[in-house]
Amino acid sequence: MENTILEIKNVTKAIKRKKILKNISIKIPKGEIYGLIGPNGAGKTTLMRMITGLSSITSGDIFIKEKSISTERKRALLTLGTIIEGPDMYPFFSGKENLFHFARMYPNISKKRIEEVIEIVGLTNSINKKVKNYSLGMKQRLGIAQSILHNPSLLILDEPTNGLDPAGIKEMRDYLKKIALQNNTSILISSHLLSEMELICDRIGIIKHGEMVSEHNLSEMELIKDSSKNKVTIEIQQIDEAKQILNEYNYTIDNNLLIFHINKEEVPNLIHLLTVNNVKIYEVAYTKSTLEERFFEWTGGNTID
Ligand SMILES: Nc1ncnc2c1ncn2[C@@H]1O[C@H](COP(=O)(O)OP(=O)(O)OP(=O)(O)O)[C@@H](O)[C@H]1O
Ligand SMILES: [Mg+2]
Repeated sequence: MENTILEIKNVTKAIKRKKILKNISIKIPKGEIYGLIGPNGAGKTTLMRMITGLSSITSGDIFIKEKSISTERKRALLTLGTIIEGPDMYPFFSGKENLFHFARMYPNISKKRIEEVIEIVGLTNSINKKVKNYSLGMKQRLGIAQSILHNPSLLILDEPTNGLDPAGIKEMRDYLKKIALQNNTSILISSHLLSEMELICDRIGIIKHGEMVSEHNLSEMELIKDSSKNKVTIEIQQIDEAKQILNEYNYTIDNNLLIFHINKEEVPNLIHLLTVNNVKIYEVAYTKSTLEERFFEWTGGNTID
């Protein structure tokens, strides 16, 4: 597909016979923010290191703008921006001096472009401070600034919100979205913060034990359509009576609460069934499941961190 910026094709990684990644395939189109979610040791960093050429591919291939990482490595990496395992900055140089240093690694990065990225990541007021005096959040921003200097088509960010405070996370989210929208940059991002991924990503891939468990579209419409995963909680006193009349339903009981995972359309029938059988209803709550709850459903696991 012409619009595909990153294509990971049947990629496998083995280290000393241990399979770390098994047959992973992902396609990321222009301007999409794709989130890689998975527990510790799932293989997220390994996959990102392979995309950036820092780690070899055992089998399969990775293409950036149709250029193979294996056979056209230099050209493939030309359009990539990345921060993996923290950017290397010179602590005794200012943020700006660091950016000028990185700019020299690419052809034709103008002073104007450097000023522009400083503005995008919101570092204007502290860009002349020495990096050793930067907070973690400021270092992260400088890392992003460095990675987008050459206007890459693809950004690879391994847990960029790691260690940021909530305000910092929100800012990071805002400018990543801005970069994706304004420059049509595709972004592959990994994180443990599922609620965060929900807010920033267009699509997510769940990876576990080196395997892609599932991919999900997070656009609002998709969430609305997929209402079967939503939760209905009904508070009653007569649990034993309810049990006898609800044998057609799947539900769980938590003290006086009956918990169902059903479509909103089914709620009136359920309430009707209970009331005609004289079960008193004290409260009905309908909640959309969060990405976090869904994550547990999808992975069947309880280990995010
Ligand atoms: N150089 C290596 N040699 C041997 N095993 C490795 C090597 N690098 C990674 N691994 C193993 O590969 C698996 C995946 O590690 P990876 O760092 O990619 O996971 P991750 O999803 O990034 O985890 P985290 O959420 O903790 O960052 C782990 O079991 C790890 O121990
Ligand atoms: Mg990692």
